[in-house]
Amino acid sequence: MKRVRKAVFPVGGLGTRFLPATKAIPKEMLPVVDKPLIQYAVDEAREAGIEQMIFVTGRGKSAIEDHFDIAYELESTMADRGKALDAIAGTRFAPGAVAYVRQQEPNGLGHAIWCARDIVGDEPFAILLADELMTGTPGCMKQMVDAYAEIGGNLVCGYEVAPEETRDYGVIDPGEVRGALVEVRGLVEKPPPGTAPSNLMIPGRYILQPEVMRILDRQERGAGGEIQLTDAMAEMIGRAPFYAMRFTGRRFDCGSKAGFIEANLALALEHPDIAPHIRAFLAKI
Ligand code: G1P
Repeated sequence: MKRVRKAVFPVGGLGTRFLPATKAIPKEMLPVVDKPLIQYAVDEAREAGIEQMIFVTGRGKSAIEDHFDIAYELESTMADRGKALDAIAGTRFAPGAVAYVRQQEPNGLGHAIWCARDIVGDEPFAILLADELMTGTPGCMKQMVDAYAEIGGNLVCGYEVAPEETRDYGVIDPGEVRGALVEVRGLVEKPPPGTAPSNLMIPGRYILQPEVMRILDRQERGAGGEIQLTDAMAEMIGRAPFYAMRFTGRRFDCGSKAGFIEANLALALEHPDIAPHIRAFLAKI
């Protein structure tokens, strides 16, 4: 079985839910405490042993490329002032360990992933959506990579949400349960209220076989008129093992304002420098 070496980060989305904040900066660069969302996802992939990061970007997203590059002026000024560079550790990749490809039109998540097909090539790959912030020890993708090493096939993360929330997500039709793994019998993208097969949604973490790219080649449109990754994955059910891994850590939906604020509060309360101050402030208000 081939190891998971590559991860795709679709970062081409417009981020309209965060306007005006995201008019000139990518939503993936919004910080939770002191780190942009995209760096949480990249750190999670690194922890899982992923070696090649593939960003599917779009116009106006160059801040992401700059974030993961050398910043000569900043670094030399910090060095001159005797400041440690720890704060920007983790913002660099080894030469060649990162690739960028542009999604020219916003045609859906499936289309974004398909734009990375030639860089992914013929091997299993991970996908991480940066606006879903997953925290845990070990991290979500590390847990998935470990589970994948046992079962292979296709593996998505599964996370329980309230029934009224399923309409916003890809939802799993669950089968047999094997510990933390649940067999995937079906998948539906954004089911209309009352029709979801379960409350188990996919919080933007996937390990998929490259065959998904051949299905996406057909460019078939689904929910919302977009090319949906969920529909392409659904076609692979039955051809190879397909499981969901229930993640036991925490999830913050940073694609929504409330989830983003929750993430900031929760992580601030774990940040040794500011936690006492934030706790006192919250109690006060
Ligand atoms: C996308 C996926 C959906 C998934 C969700 C996670 O939806 O299509 O299956 O559950 O991300 O956040 P989007 O948020 O792009 O509407």
